[in-house]
Amino acid sequence: MTTRCVTIESSTAAPSAAAMITWQAAHRARVEAALDRFLTASSSAEGGSRLWEAMRYAALPGGKRWRALLVYAAAELANADIAVADAPAAAVEVLHAYSLVHDDLPCMDDDGMRRGQPACHVAFGEAQALLAGDALQAQAFLVLAQSRMPNPAAACALLAKAAGAEGMAGGQAQDLSGKVEAMGALEAMHRMKTGALIEAAVMLGAACGAPMGHAGHTALARYAAAVGLAFQVADDVLDVEGSSSGLGKTAGKDATQNKATYVTLLGLKDAKDRMQTLCEEAQQALEIFGTAAWPLKALAVQAVTRSR
Ligand code: IPE
Ligand code: IPE
Ligand code: MG
Ligand code: MG
Ligand code: MG
Repeated sequence: MTTRCVTIESSTAAPSAAAMITWQAAHRARVEAALDRFLTASSSAEGGSRLWEAMRYAALPGGKRWRALLVYAAAELANADIAVADAPAAAVEVLHAYSLVHDDLPCMDDDGMRRGQPACHVAFGEAQALLAGDALQAQAFLVLAQSRMPNPAAACALLAKAAGAEGMAGGQAQDLSGKVEAMGALEAMHRMKTGALIEAAVMLGAACGAPMGHAGHTALARYAAAVGLAFQVADDVLDVEGSSSGLGKTAGKDATQNKATYVTLLGLKDAKDRMQTLCEEAQQALEIFGTAAWPLKALAVQAVTRSR
């Protein structure tokens, strides 16, 4: 995918591309360890069950962990203790994993491949996959409720809003309705089905630290909204331009299923232009923070330059 977005190297706010690689590796390792910890049954008898196996299968291998990285980057911007951000970083990824398990079910997108392996329902059967999704969602809230965040109840409410009827689940319902035809409705659907959880990731990260004040909070919310939409536009583009082996999921699925996407409504070129504009908007929103926001800027660039 080509880009005219500000690159890590050319951004005045970014120390270097190498710094971002190091930053990402360290924070990915943190969330992988947290996921393993939070997706371990509390009793060894339960730990061996088929349900836990399906949950770990769906959540542990292969994800980019881009949402978790947003949590950590926002937490660092808010001067939080990074260990406090482990719980929301993992919770957001666990909730995301649930959404993917259900999204792939035959009654939804009917996709047999996810993260380079058979989808959860292919490996475990539909009933177990449905339950694994349910249990992953519950686990995400348990992790947040038991976290060391300053206000766990507020964190749970924030994630619930993003995941529910006004967020991800509502957007998925619109996606499946087949009634999204106009640009405004498509944008609203994308903001709900994908943007809402991404926005929650950023704001949960910020909620790990001290309150940043109205201007900072507003700027971060603007960043999150732009990057959340950009991420799904990029997903639409990748569905057309990517390969199944590269993506780790079935390419060309949106066209096969007659989905309304940014590519079907705008065409490939305009969809890419929109994605770049959103990336620029996201980066501009961070100017108020100066150089401290460089990981968030780099993550915005990644959202639209990724190959999977
Ligand atoms: C895929 O998300 C589903 C969307 C909401 C677009 P990701 O592209 O982040 O998938 P993983 O987590 O890396 O597998
Ligand atoms: C997924 O959108 C949004 C979710 C909430 C899971 P897609 O259906 O386009 O995601 P992929 O392409 O299957 O990952
Ligand atoms: Mg879908
Ligand atoms: Mg899908
Ligand atoms: Mg897609």
